[in-house]
Amino acid sequence: MLTDTLNIAVTKTEESRLATTDFDNLPFGRTFSDHMFIADYEGGEWKNFQIVPYGEIGLSPAISALHYGQAFFEGIKAYKHADGRIAIFRPEKNAERSNASAERLCMPQIPVEMYLQALSAIVEIDKDWVPSKEGHSLYIRPFMFATDPYLGVTPSETYKFIILTGPVGPYFSKNLKVKIETSFSRASDGGFGFAKAAGNYGGSMLPARRATEEGFDQLIWTDSREHAYIEELGAANIMFMIDGKVITPSTRDTILKGVTRDTVLTLAKSWGIEVEERRVSVAEILSAIKEGRITDAFGAGTAATIAHIAEIGHEGEVYTLPDPAKREFSNRVLQTLNAIRYGRAADEFNWNYFV
Ligand code: PLP
Ligand code: COI
Repeated sequence: MLTDTLNIAVTKTEESRLATTDFDNLPFGRTFSDHMFIADYEGGEWKNFQIVPYGEIGLSPAISALHYGQAFFEGIKAYKHADGRIAIFRPEKNAERSNASAERLCMPQIPVEMYLQALSAIVEIDKDWVPSKEGHSLYIRPFMFATDPYLGVTPSETYKFIILTGPVGPYFSKNLKVKIETSFSRASDGGFGFAKAAGNYGGSMLPARRATEEGFDQLIWTDSREHAYIEELGAANIMFMIDGKVITPSTRDTILKGVTRDTVLTLAKSWGIEVEERRVSVAEILSAIKEGRITDAFGAGTAATIAHIAEIGHEGEVYTLPDPAKREFSNRVLQTLNAIRYGRAADEFNWNYFV
């Protein structure tokens, strides 16, 4: 619930863009709501809490985020329930993960209460931007970056924490043809793959472009030492159903601890389905495909939701997986999640955070 202990100074826009926004055409990440939240970290504390019209902000070209990548972000969604109320999905998990990212990048912590109040306030002010159509939501993008105008390689003493929001439709419009990546890596042991650091995404673009040029939609990241173990699917966690069990790589320093991943595993366990979180080798997946033991394979993420994998390529071979429309587990997950997120089913795990 929204409380005012943050003391946010609100400047409302004089010209809302809501009426001129086409809610039937919402490519991911291109439409922004009317306002944004901004806070500054200075002198060892968060201050200057503001909600202002969405727009450009002036910054020195010397800020260390631009030079040394002291920056991370989050992705969260808010949904409009059947009764008109608006709920943010599990935002306390993103607050926790922000603080894990901040710690790894030597950036300040954000008190969870501040994080949640800021989220509530920005979603509340732009609540008319939350779409109600199935598969649509308000995407929320909190991010923090270093703002010292200083070129020494040292942690900044000042930061900005900003939250943008914008209505979105589905991130992927089709089932995916993916490639198991065997030369590039997203993350390495002792690195910061578990953090939602901006640099992890910059480094993923060339491998992703190469995969696209080879006719794939996405790539499956493998471990950086041997490229023998499956880690993630693009910007989502990856899951398989093999012999009736849900199998997913266990989280480690190279793998983001996904909120959707935790959500799917919690549902699976509550349905009495066995879950294995462990190292998953490429060889195991390829032989399970060849032996017809894989009944499901998908990416799980906030933007991606549940993204079915239709085909997997590995070293020149392309393997076709069972028809996504007929997959029992991932389709049940998607339906159940939507029912909880749009308020049509009981929220037995308390995942909805009402604003
Ligand atoms: N892995 C990566 C690399 C991601 O960028 C994301 C997206 O946020 C995920 C996994 C899924 O995490 P979540 O379900 O918390 O969105
Ligand atoms: C999300 O799922 O929120 C993500 O962060 C993926 C994004 C990089 C598009």
